[in-house]
Amino acid sequence: MKIIHTIAELRAWRATVDQVAFVPTMGNLHQGHMALVRAALAETPHVVVSLFVNRLQFGQGEDFDRYPRTLASDAALIEEIAPNAIVFAPDEKELYPHVVQHYKVDPPAIQDELCGAFRPGHFQGVATVVTKLFNIVQPTVACFGKKDYQQLFVIQSMVEELNMPLRIIPVDTGRAESGLALSSRNGYLSPEERVEAARIYFHLTRMRDAIVAGERDYEKLANETIADLTARGWSQIDYVEARNAHTLKPATHTDHHIVWLIAARLGKTRLIDNLEIDL
Ligand code: PAJ
Repeated sequence: MKIIHTIAELRAWRATVDQVAFVPTMGNLHQGHMALVRAALAETPHVVVSLFVNRLQFGQGEDFDRYPRTLASDAALIEEIAPNAIVFAPDEKELYPHVVQHYKVDPPAIQDELCGAFRPGHFQGVATVVTKLFNIVQPTVACFGKKDYQQLFVIQSMVEELNMPLRIIPVDTGRAESGLALSSRNGYLSPEERVEAARIYFHLTRMRDAIVAGERDYEKLANETIADLTARGWSQIDYVEARNAHTLKPATHTDHHIVWLIAARLGKTRLIDNLEIDL
């Protein structure tokens, strides 16, 4: 495994290989990220994992400053399963040499829905940094987690509409035994909150099972979840929604592929998760 900090050095390495599988991350890696690295390794031995906490996708008052930066332990985790991988860990000046990023990639209306309604500018920040990273790494494939379903949707449609010459590989969500989706932000949870956080997965499976059993009143199911989480002391429920899994439009009663999406705050920690249903 080799750690590269500069764009010039990354480009020099890139010129020596034909294919590259890329895993963009913000670091503080866990087993959910490692599933992406494994999916990348299944494509080609030439794997690049980027570690970069992207200021552009954090809003005012969000956790940019306290987001954990753990390069040494991240590199050790990658080394274990991908000893030939390249770790690309640029500092902020390398990726954003100007005080502001003048050119931005502006996703369509979906950027204002779901998480975007609560995190203005977030998906523009994601699309912009991912485009920059794609231009630097020039991957032939890139792996993204379904954990961030809306992000995956934005990246897939961006790659398609802008004719970016790579293939996106979606990877299933890695979960703890309790069902809690693995996330770097789980580190903010107290031990008690970590137990309670699995309530999200409980409701995702409850709402899935209800739909599989024939229930089509999505609003009723969502309201039950909101009422329960609120009664249990969750500090804010951003959304509980059933959407068409392909278009991310609100689910209709005739859709066959649906995804339940939840974002809610437990104490100060914002958690998101989702579950697909194939009918
Ligand atoms: P980050 O939150 O570090 O996630 C990096 C990648 O890991 C994303 O594709 C995310 O969906 C995936 N991932 C996170 N938790 C996962 C889990 N439990 N199971 C499966 N995959 C999981 O997402 C970002 O960083 C950033 O927005 C980024 C794309 C790097 C742009 O800055």
